[in-house]
Amino acid sequence: MEYNFDEVIDRRDTDSVKWDHARDVFGRDVLPMWVADMDFKSPKPVIDAIVKHANYGVYGYTYRPGRLNEAIADWMQRRHGWKIEKDWIFYMPGVVPSINTAVQAFTKEGDSVIIQTPVYHPFFVAVKYNGRRLLRNPLKQMDGQYLMDYEDLKDKLDMGAKMAILCSPHNPGGRVWKAEELERFGKLCKSKDAVIVSDEIHSDIVYNGNKHIPIASISSELSERTITCIAPSKTFNIAGLSASAVIIPDETLRRRFADTFKKTGINTGNLFGIEAMEAAYTHGEEWLEKLLVYLEGNISFIDDYLKKNIPDLKLFRPQGTYLAWVDCRRLGLKQSMLEKFFVEKAGIGLTSGTDFGEEGEGFMRLNFGCPRSILEEGLNRIDKAVKSLQSR
Ligand SMILES: Cc1ncc(COP(=O)(O)O)c(C=O)c1O
Repeated sequence: MEYNFDEVIDRRDTDSVKWDHARDVFGRDVLPMWVADMDFKSPKPVIDAIVKHANYGVYGYTYRPGRLNEAIADWMQRRHGWKIEKDWIFYMPGVVPSINTAVQAFTKEGDSVIIQTPVYHPFFVAVKYNGRRLLRNPLKQMDGQYLMDYEDLKDKLDMGAKMAILCSPHNPGGRVWKAEELERFGKLCKSKDAVIVSDEIHSDIVYNGNKHIPIASISSELSERTITCIAPSKTFNIAGLSASAVIIPDETLRRRFADTFKKTGINTGNLFGIEAMEAAYTHGEEWLEKLLVYLEGNISFIDDYLKKNIPDLKLFRPQGTYLAWVDCRRLGLKQSMLEKFFVEKAGIGLTSGTDFGEEGEGFMRLNFGCPRSILEEGLNRIDKAVKSLQSR
């Protein structure tokens, strides 16, 4: 199979959120490096599976065959060393619906739920819109990386939190949590009997020297209190296909989750999502290995570029994800000015740091899941804008 991640694919006029909706979001044309999908084609086996069914021409109700469970279980074992039972899997249309369902299933209105900020914005929404109390356990910054604050986590658990939502790997910080970190986090949650929801959507995008560890795989004590959310959507660039799953080893938790979700009346999957998920987990590994090499090249490209040309911007070097958390504090701009600066002066669409909570002040998130030429164009635009800002 040939892989060409340098290929520039025109995504305009395809109703892409990232490319076409950007104009509404940013108020003008920008080079879009915001919402988390990639500008690469999916692996060929995924495209083939979809095209085959598209050509078939009959799109009736579709169920998930047993071999899909096998494909997921094999993937979890092979890639993440976690042996799961096939009946622990419960299919969902997305990870965000899974988090919301877990909040509804395992907490009551008024209960407290912990999140580790700055973090993916829908975590805030899942807690607040469901009438739960949000408890922030802010991450600590240390040498251009985030660390967990266990003292604060203990305090928040002591306040009676019923659930903690983990982002593993972490968006936007790019941390791939180490076994010791997850163990400490898990032990504290267990000591207060808090349920763990682990969003592992980015778990397959992990770079050399790091290893994703599903928190539920660490011990039976942790597996029996954890809801693990997974999806092929980030990994294989199929976010538009609504395919994901939760893995819940504990039967009681699994039943409660299923009973809660049943109330939505949603029970079939999108047939293209089903086809794509099976093809991706069964035949997508070789493509993924090549993708990881390319993305790691993009990280080095950003790091070198910033060091050489824009030393006032600092990269929190990601250990996983295709999202770069860029520290812009040395530009000395307030967040609203920073946002304006990137859109109006640089003509680039980034995600504002404060979209991930107030702890993201002074940061912007840049999606580098794109051909290097696009990345270079984005960095050139930023460079030019920063130079003109500093020459004033
Ligand atoms: C941490 C995290 N969770 C969930 C999602 C989205 O999940 P879904 O589209 O499956 O609802 C994203 C997308 O960026 C994400 O970064």
